[in-house]
Formats: sequence, C-alpha cells, structure tokens
Amino acid sequence: MSRRGYWLSEDASRRLEGIVERIEEKASVAIDPSELEGVHERLNVREVLADLPEGFSEDDFVGVVKLAMLTECATDSYAAVFYEGARDYNAPWLGRFTERTWVPDEYTHTAPFKSMLLSVGFEEAELDREIRQVLDKTYVHSCGKTPVELTTFGILQEFLTDHWHGLIAKMLKNRAPHAASLATRVKRRETLHYIWYKEMTAAQIEENPELLHLVAATGASFNMPGVSLTPEYQLRALEWMPTMGANLDRNSREIVRHLFDIAGNTQRAGEMLLEVAALRGMTLGKVSAERAKAVLDRLGGRGYTLLGEAVLECVGLPIPAEIQARADARLAGGVPTIGALQERLRGMLRTSIARRIDLSSLSKA
Ligand SMILES: [Fe+2]
Ligand SMILES: [Fe+2]
Repeated sequence: MSRRGYWLSEDASRRLEGIVERIEEKASVAIDPSELEGVHERLNVREVLADLPEGFSEDDFVGVVKLAMLTECATDSYAAVFYEGARDYNAPWLGRFTERTWVPDEYTHTAPFKSMLLSVGFEEAELDREIRQVLDKTYVHSCGKTPVELTTFGILQEFLTDHWHGLIAKMLKNRAPHAASLATRVKRRETLHYIWYKEMTAAQIEENPELLHLVAATGASFNMPGVSLTPEYQLRALEWMPTMGANLDRNSREIVRHLFDIAGNTQRAGEMLLEVAALRGMTLGKVSAERAKAVLDRLGGRGYTLLGEAVLECVGLPIPAEIQARADARLAGGVPTIGALQERLRGMLRTSIARRIDLSSLSKA
C-alpha cells in the first residue's frame, strides 16, 4: 500500500490489526448516559462561579466548559476523516478502532459537560441549539490523512483534551466535587486514547521509519479541532490556561517526550523534532531551525544524535546510559580516558544546544 509517501507491509498491517484487537478488549465508555439523567440538579456548578480565580469572569468559566462540550459533540465529523484515511490507504485496523472503540466512547463525552452547564442555569434548548450549530459546520482537518498522520493527530488532540478536562476538574473540585469527578472520568478515557494512538504510531514507525516525515508534518500543522468548529472559545484557550493552573512549558515537554518515544532512537528523534521546528518557523537561540537543519543535514547522523540528546536534556529525560558510562570512563589511577574527555566536551556542547531550545511554542496549537 503506497500512496503519497505512506507505505506499510502486509505484516505491519497484521501487527496493527493485533494491537487494535487487544485494545478492543479494554473498550469501554466514559459514562453510561443513564447515570446522567437529572444529575445536573445535584452538581452545584453554580457555586463554582462564586469561587473563580482572580481575573477569571463567569463568562470565561462558561466558555471553558462550552469549549469542552462543543468540541466533544463533533465525534462524527472527526470519525469521518479517520474513515476516509483508513479507506484511502487500505488501513482496516484504523477504521475498526475508530468504529468499535473510539466512536462509542466519544459519544458519551458531551453529556457530562452539558449537565454542568444545565447546573449553571442554562436552558437545555439553548445548549442543544449551540450543539446543532457546531454539527452543521464543516470541520477543517489541519493535518494530512495518511494513517500515521491521523494517529499522530490523535495523540496530540487527545493529549491536549485530556489536559483541558483535567483543568476543568481542578476548577470544580472544591465547590462541585461530583461534577469534577465526571470531568475526571472523561479525562481518563482521553488518556487511554492518546496512549493507544501512540502505540499505533510507534508500530507504524518501527515498520517504516521514513514515515517520521509525516509525523513531523503533523506536529507542524496541528490545530485543535475547535479552531474551525468553535473559534470563539478555542482561540481564547491559551489566554485562559495560565489562570486555570496550566503549565504550558510542562505540556510542551510532555509532547516532546511522546514524539521522542515514537521516533525509536535519539538520532531519528533529533531529526524529526528539528523538522517540526523548521516547519513551524521556530529558532534555536539566534539560529532559525531551518538553518540548523541545513547544517545538520550536511553533517549527517552524528549531528542529529547530539541534537536528540540535547532535546532529552531539555525535557528532563536521562541521556542514554552508555554515553554517561563513556564520560565517566577512567584509566587505572583515576585519570579520565581521552574518550571520556571527548565525551565531556560533547556534553558541554549538548548542554549549550539544550539551553537554546525553546519548547514553549509547541503547546500553543
Ligand atoms: Fe472526548
Ligand atoms: Fe478521546
């Protein structure tokens, strides 16, 4: 199966089918809809309005919950893109995962947030009208539609949604603990979703490392679905996040860690992350990532390995043990070996590159 750079062997497809089958055994839904009947009368979300953080208005809070409800309601629009990719690139495993596991779960994610808004005092008819308006809009998918691009998109989208629901739970927990627990239950499903998409992405890369270019392209063009469906709320998310207790820097580090894991080794990770940075127009200190990429492309693999190690240092992951062992090597009598001195010099270079890497713009999708 080869089309616009996407290719996987029959063996790889079978392996992915096996992964999806295993996931299906754990398939479940966030919340049984019958559990939510009349629940809004007991949620106390109105009381949260009296306890909002400094500088955070009631409208801001409502916007935060509406963003969750309105992006969750468009499951069918997102699923259509995944079915299209699965069909066009002959990836039945992806269609199967979407249909049997992902869609039934996602269908249960809107109602908890709707219950919270009913608890605040909104009329059900008004909320249903807003949901209908979103369903009538055309969802613009900002990334490619090959299976590896879709599963990478899945990681990023689910990770950021997981984080968003966690921030909501945090705002609710003191005054409306039952509502907070509903948000947390949805959040836990999103965690599973991104872990599953990560497993599917890593399996495709393991079989065909060339696909990392498509992972990089996805990292570069990614936008949350709310950008096209509910821009009035989505485009305010970054402004709201710090007051809600979000740590954008930590988010970026987490995203980089996930991408790093997918790449499979330090050199490939360095190459892929620099490609993302170059496509996004980012800089390494005063040097554009595009220029750094041109230099490293000439140097070959060793340069990318060093960059990959610098990224590891930057996100707080340990560098590979054999590198540390080389840097610590000593001759009899305790004198460092020539190799150890070279490795230490390399370590200084790595640290100076790590200091130039600014990851903060990565989670501002
Ligand atoms: Fe969801
Ligand atoms: Fe999800």
